[in-house]
Amino acid sequence: MAPTRVLTGITTSGTPHLGNYVGAIRPAVAASRRDDVESFYFLADYHALIKVQEPARVQRSTLEIAAAWLACGLEPDTVWFYRQSDIPEIPELTWLLTCVAGKGILNRAHAYKAAVDRNRAEGEDDDAGVSAGLFMYPVLMAADILLFNANQVPVGRDQVQHIEMARDFGQRFNHLYGGDFFALPEALIEEQVATLPGLDGRKMSKSYDNTIPLFAPREQLRKLIFSIVTDSRAPGEPKQAEGSALFQLHQAFASEAETQAMRRAFADGIAWGDAKQALFERIDAEVAPLREKYEALIAQPALIERQLREGAAKLRERYATPTLGTLREAVGLRDLAQGQAAARGRAKPAQAALPVFKQYREADGRFYFKLVDGDRVLLQSTGFASPKDAGARIGALKRDGFAAADADVALGDGVDAVAVREALDAMRAAEEAKA
Ligand code: TRP
Repeated sequence: MAPTRVLTGITTSGTPHLGNYVGAIRPAVAASRRDDVESFYFLADYHALIKVQEPARVQRSTLEIAAAWLACGLEPDTVWFYRQSDIPEIPELTWLLTCVAGKGILNRAHAYKAAVDRNRAEGEDDDAGVSAGLFMYPVLMAADILLFNANQVPVGRDQVQHIEMARDFGQRFNHLYGGDFFALPEALIEEQVATLPGLDGRKMSKSYDNTIPLFAPREQLRKLIFSIVTDSRAPGEPKQAEGSALFQLHQAFASEAETQAMRRAFADGIAWGDAKQALFERIDAEVAPLREKYEALIAQPALIERQLREGAAKLRERYATPTLGTLREAVGLRDLAQGQAAARGRAKPAQAALPVFKQYREADGRFYFKLVDGDRVLLQSTGFASPKDAGARIGALKRDGFAAADADVALGDGVDAVAVREALDAMRAAEEAKA
């Protein structure tokens, strides 16, 4: 059986933080080691442009995220690891999908709708400050997924709608162009993946500015962990493990046994300072070896650049370029010479070559018909008194066929009865195909 294709995109709009590590990088790297899946990991830098319009930040983020994934154990020899903007087939497919995507569906995309709702609340024009890029975001994402016929896309709940849209666009394309061009992807919803709390206890997120960078230098990591918001319980006072950001952060890195020990320490009234020190040490134990690799990688951007380019080149050769070739052909973006030849070849049996009956009137005032195939006359009738009589005789020929003994029609020069019957059969078949 062909391996399941699992595809993940990471928008290159920030610095990887502990929440990204626990929620995405760590589980994805573990999954990439399974041998029953073919994994695709890519840096979604076209998507980043929708949000970030500072070139240096886009570049820096792309470098940091690539280095982070590599440092955390992603092996470019066993997975596809690439940068979206190195695959020109992605924007090309985006356009093909744009032309089948319903605008009404895009109107209902959460991110776009949220922007419109904000504008309405503020009494602004619906689309104020909304770029066409934001509006088209789901189509670009569908191209990322459909180009490689991904079967599963691990995503958070907020992205599920985008996967459904990718299915919709893929299905429309398949239907419209009559083929199984695209596999229809499924969202792999990460229910049990921890959302990590940030410094202020809310979900760790760039948008709340409460993140702990994954590869903050040791001292900075310590400082940040000591700045986690806690309540004012004094040392010796029992502390609540449930709902404590500190406890949850610890749990995301600790073994079952370590978590139990920390739960007991909370109940026993561990001082916040001691709990923070324990948390710092636990996180640093896991992150320090990765940080070392990360720093080595970040110091060699040319190496990462080369790896990404090589990944993209291989992937284009293997999948993207041939797939786009098929799709271009499907929609009619074709070699003109080949297209002409194909059209001629197909037209022949279809209609141009079909024999036809031609009716006419001669100078003698009588009505005649002949059966012609191109410039060959197959049958020639004698004269009839009226066009209606001639028509009736044609009808009878079509219906009942031709007998060589029929006196009112004669075979044309060099034509035999078999050729006439074949001609009449072909005409009948074409008639039936139309009905
Ligand atoms: N939109 C995704 C996010 O913000 C990133 C992304 C871009 C993506 N293209 C993708 C994820 C394709 C999965 C598949 O998280």
